[in-house]
Amino acid sequence: MDTPVASKLQGRAGDVNKNNQIHLIDHPLIAHSLTILREQDTGTAEFRRHAGIVSTVMLIEATRHLGLESKTIQTPLASTTGSQLADGLVVVPVLRAGLAMLTAAQELLADAPVGFLGLERDETTAVAREYYQKFPGSLVGSKVLILDPMLATGGSLEGTIAAVQAREGRDITLVCIVAAPEGIKRITTAFPDINLFTASIDSHLDEHKYIVPGLGDFGDRYFGT
Ligand code: PRP
Ligand code: URA
Repeated sequence: MDTPVASKLQGRAGDVNKNNQIHLIDHPLIAHSLTILREQDTGTAEFRRHAGIVSTVMLIEATRHLGLESKTIQTPLASTTGSQLADGLVVVPVLRAGLAMLTAAQELLADAPVGFLGLERDETTAVAREYYQKFPGSLVGSKVLILDPMLATGGSLEGTIAAVQAREGRDITLVCIVAAPEGIKRITTAFPDINLFTASIDSHLDEHKYIVPGLGDFGDRYFGT
């Protein structure tokens, strides 16, 4: 379920949701699991488990408007008309942390091709550097689901969107877990027609460009590094 984002963003990112492109997902399972992700004493196994739960619920919400086409099938008792997904989908996890959301995406969308983009923020400047890219041949005509749990300055997602658009991916949805107003403003200003799903809009970035209150370094906590 979407909740109004205006009160969460007021005074921190301006009127960035005038296109209703930001979807703040409110769900008890997310509230419960996100609290465990934020807790500093949560160990790797629990962190992975709850990252999976949040990712699953976020992906269910982010795919709510996928198109369907009818399909006639035979049950053991009769012929009936059902549905199947009509849209071609490509999933793009942003390495590394986006891999935490890929397992859930592959459970839900088992045959969706996967494109990879490796980006790493410089620890001093927080500017993202690309180190890997491998995409399916063409993104033309596909819906693209970009997965990255943390939207901080927005540099990593901006780079990812640019890479997807360079391959003519046009119908793009971003799925995050925690987003900062600074990153939301950057992405929604640069890409006013891209939908952004997040489980939380946090307060601000600290002097090292970490999200506050946030959950720390998602990749390090998920991969135990
Ligand atoms: C984290 C996170 C995002 C990025 C967000 O990745 O997974 O990709 O930072 O920050 P930004 O919005 O300021 O670009 P990181 O660079 O730490 O790499 P990792 O996923 O390998 O840990
Ligand atoms: N990347 C993370 O993993 N955490 C932050 O707070 C910001 C960027």
